[in-house]
Amino acid sequence: MDIPTKNTRKILVTQALPYANAPLHLGHILEAVQTDIWTRFQNMNGNQCYFFCADDTHGTPVMLKAKEKGITPEELIKDVLNDHKETYDLYGIKFTNFYTTHSEENKKYSEKIYLEAKKNNLISKEIVEQLYDENEQMFLSDRFIKGSCPKCGAPDQHGDNCSVCGASYDVLEIKDPISILSNSEPIKKDSEHIFFDLPKKIDTLREFLNKSNLQTPIKNKLKEWLSDDLKKWDISRDEPYFGFKIPDEINKYFYVWVDAPIGYIASMDNWFKNNNIDTKEVWSPNSNYEIFHFIGKDIAYFHGLFWPALLSSANFKLPNGIFVHGFLTVNGEKMSKSKGTGILAKEFANIINPETLRYYFAAKLNNKVEDIDLNFEDYVQRINSDLVGKYLNIASRSASFIKKNKNVLSTNINKNILNNLILKKDEIISLYETREYSKLVRIIMDLADDINKYINEQTPWKKDINEAVDITSTAINAFYIITTYLHPIIPNITNEAFKFLNIKKISIDDVDKTEINKINNYKPLLNRLDKI
Ligand code: 2FM
Ligand code: ZN
Repeated sequence: MDIPTKNTRKILVTQALPYANAPLHLGHILEAVQTDIWTRFQNMNGNQCYFFCADDTHGTPVMLKAKEKGITPEELIKDVLNDHKETYDLYGIKFTNFYTTHSEENKKYSEKIYLEAKKNNLISKEIVEQLYDENEQMFLSDRFIKGSCPKCGAPDQHGDNCSVCGASYDVLEIKDPISILSNSEPIKKDSEHIFFDLPKKIDTLREFLNKSNLQTPIKNKLKEWLSDDLKKWDISRDEPYFGFKIPDEINKYFYVWVDAPIGYIASMDNWFKNNNIDTKEVWSPNSNYEIFHFIGKDIAYFHGLFWPALLSSANFKLPNGIFVHGFLTVNGEKMSKSKGTGILAKEFANIINPETLRYYFAAKLNNKVEDIDLNFEDYVQRINSDLVGKYLNIASRSASFIKKNKNVLSTNINKNILNNLILKKDEIISLYETREYSKLVRIIMDLADDINKYINEQTPWKKDINEAVDITSTAINAFYIITTYLHPIIPNITNEAFKFLNIKKISIDDVDKTEINKINNYKPLLNRLDKI
């Protein structure tokens, strides 16, 4: 299917890089769908929009997972990469490039940005005291420690906060600490760490927060963090670690959160090389590309503070915007494996048509940082009522009349009916642009309702064949417009619909210029869903 380009805006979009230690769950798909819809809309609207992602491969959890499986981290991340790609593919997520952070390009950019920051006096060293597991011979990050709360004494508390009294503390204060890796008592040990001087970047960060496209609650939260006591950021980890070594240091590795976002650049660079685009130019402060990151609310701190600070320390362009979404709940509950609500995306794709999940998410997503609930009853009801009962019903009930006319449509169509749909175009474009998907889905379904009502009122089944073909030709042209409006949300179903309509070029701009002449026989594009 050709997608015309007007060569107007050049937009680079990313979603958060999924960790390479586990399969994707439905929360990953929520973010991918939100981002993919936006990218597809931009391209359909004549812009050049590219969507980049990669697996986030470094860090302790990947290293331990590989050890548990008796394979190397490299083997593990290769398998996971294939699995992640396959899963996203099932949901119609169309990346320009899906890469890995364990790449030459990423190593190059991580070193480059670090060395620039160092040249600009943003790097320093400090001795850090940490808990150390002598059996495993490794320093322990907070999540690998359990013990009793230093404030209330509650046993079995993990990391640096207490689930009983809510206190936060330094993990070194925890009473009777135990390493969950070896079930032994860790010792305290010193190590030299490398720090990035975040406080020195405070003015740049303030300017970034004022200038970029951020949702108000996120902007406020980031401002609050900024005016709190900003600390230097610890960017190094000791051996053993799966990651990139820090240049000019002995056995020090970049903390995974350094090279993860740089993985955005690396994924782009990997693709740009073969597509005549200069990465340096794209990421230069006067770039004519716009850059947007789609992320979940839990990683706003990294993307809103650390990431722009890192970029600016190497004189790279800062993102134009960060779009934050809430978490996914399933039937009102937080996703959890033990409760059976931590649904794996690949498994879910076996029981439903993945395109219907795209539709359901779109029908619930807006541009707020709100959690989204996937409710199975509501899901089945919505798909059956909206996609089958309203949208596709227009085509299925009209096609039989036109078939009697050798599938040729009438030119005597009701322009007023179609104009009502075309009049909504600008509003729909603006709702896509501002990520107000639930609002636009409602508008589109109201339009589908109107067309079904029009058919009901005109009763083509009671009319002679010429009049019946006039009425249903109007309906089929309306179906074409609605299909175009829905395309970014359900690309596969609508591509089939475009084949039925003999449409080769998809452009939202052209909905008022195209008229359908001839259709193909209608085949059902979606079956009603049963209970999930
Ligand atoms: O929170 C996560 O799942 C991280 N893997 C996201 C990384 S996003 C980017 F910075 F790389
Ligand atoms: Zn406590």
